[in-house]
Amino acid sequence: MRAAPARTEIQSLEEIETKLLLEAISLRYGYDFREYAVAPLHRSISAGMSAEGVATISAYQDRLLHDEGSMQRFLSTVGVSVTSMFREADTWRCIREEIVPMLRTFPSIRIWSVGCATGEEVYSLAIVLREEGLYEKSSIYATDMNEDALAVARVAAVPVERLRTYEHDYLRSGGQSSLATFFTSTSRIGRLRRDLLRNVTWAQHNLVTDASFNDFHLIVCTNVLIYFRPALQQRAHHLFYDSLVRSGFLSLGQRESLIFAPESSRYTHVRSGVSVFRKVR
Ligand SMILES: C[S@@+](CC[C@H](N)C(=O)[O-])C[C@H]1O[C@@H](n2cnc3c(N)ncnc32)[C@H](O)[C@@H]1O
Repeated sequence: MRAAPARTEIQSLEEIETKLLLEAISLRYGYDFREYAVAPLHRSISAGMSAEGVATISAYQDRLLHDEGSMQRFLSTVGVSVTSMFREADTWRCIREEIVPMLRTFPSIRIWSVGCATGEEVYSLAIVLREEGLYEKSSIYATDMNEDALAVARVAAVPVERLRTYEHDYLRSGGQSSLATFFTSTSRIGRLRRDLLRNVTWAQHNLVTDASFNDFHLIVCTNVLIYFRPALQQRAHHLFYDSLVRSGFLSLGQRESLIFAPESSRYTHVRSGVSVFRKVR
C-alpha cells in the first residue's frame, strides 16, 4: 500500500487546486482573485466549500463553474461585505474637520465611495454632507464589484436595532443630532430619507479590471485594499491617483496605507492616526 502523502505534498496539491479554481473563475465569470491576499482568500474558499457542502477545492470549482448562484454566494464571501455606519469614527471626524472645509470651497463636489458593500459608508457620507450643508452640490458615486451588495445598498433599509448600534460612532465622528433624524422608521426598519439618496449613483466597478473615473474631490476606500496583495494594491492606487483632482483627498481604512502606492510621494498625510491623504501633485 502507498504511504500517506507528506504534509508538504498535501499543501502543494491545495495550491494547485486553488490556482485552477481562480483561473476557472476568471475565465468563466471575469472576476480575477489571483492577486488577492492569500490568507483571507483561503478562508473564503473554505467557508464557501462548507456552505456548499463540498469536500474538495476541485469539487468546489465544478460547482462554481456550473452554478451561477454559488458564484454569487462566493463573491459575498470573498469580498467580505462586513460594514457599518461611521466605522472608524476618527476617520469620519477627520473628514468633517479637515476635508469638509476644503470641499466647501468648490462649486460642485464629486465623491467616489469604492467597495461600498451594502451602502452604510455611503449613507454616512450623505449624512455628513447634509449636516455640513454640502449635500445639494455633491454627487456621490458608490461602487462595488458585488451586484448583490449594491442591490441591498440601493434599498437603503437598515434594521432599527442595527441603527442603534451605529449611534455611538456617529456621535464620535462629530454627528450633530441623532441618526434617527435621517431615517424614516417603522418599528423594525429604518429607511434612509429619499432626499439623501437623490445624489447617489450606484454602479458595479471592479478594481482589478475596470478603468478610473475622473475628477473626484474625495475618494473613500476602506477595508478593501487589505484583501489585496501588493501588485493589486498598486493597481488600485494608480486608479485612485488618476481619478483624483489635484488637491483631492484619499481616505483609506486605518489598517491601510500608501505603502504600495507608486505615487506615495505625491500625497501628504492629513492627520496622524488616520489614513487620510491629500494629493499635492
Ligand atoms: C469589508 S467590505 C468594506 C465595506 C466598506 N467600505 C466599509 O469599510 O465598511 C469590502 C468590500 O470590497 C468589495 N470588493 C472586494 N474586492 C473588490 C474589487 N476588486 N473591486 C471592487 N470592490 C471590491 C467587496 O465586494 C466588499 O463589499
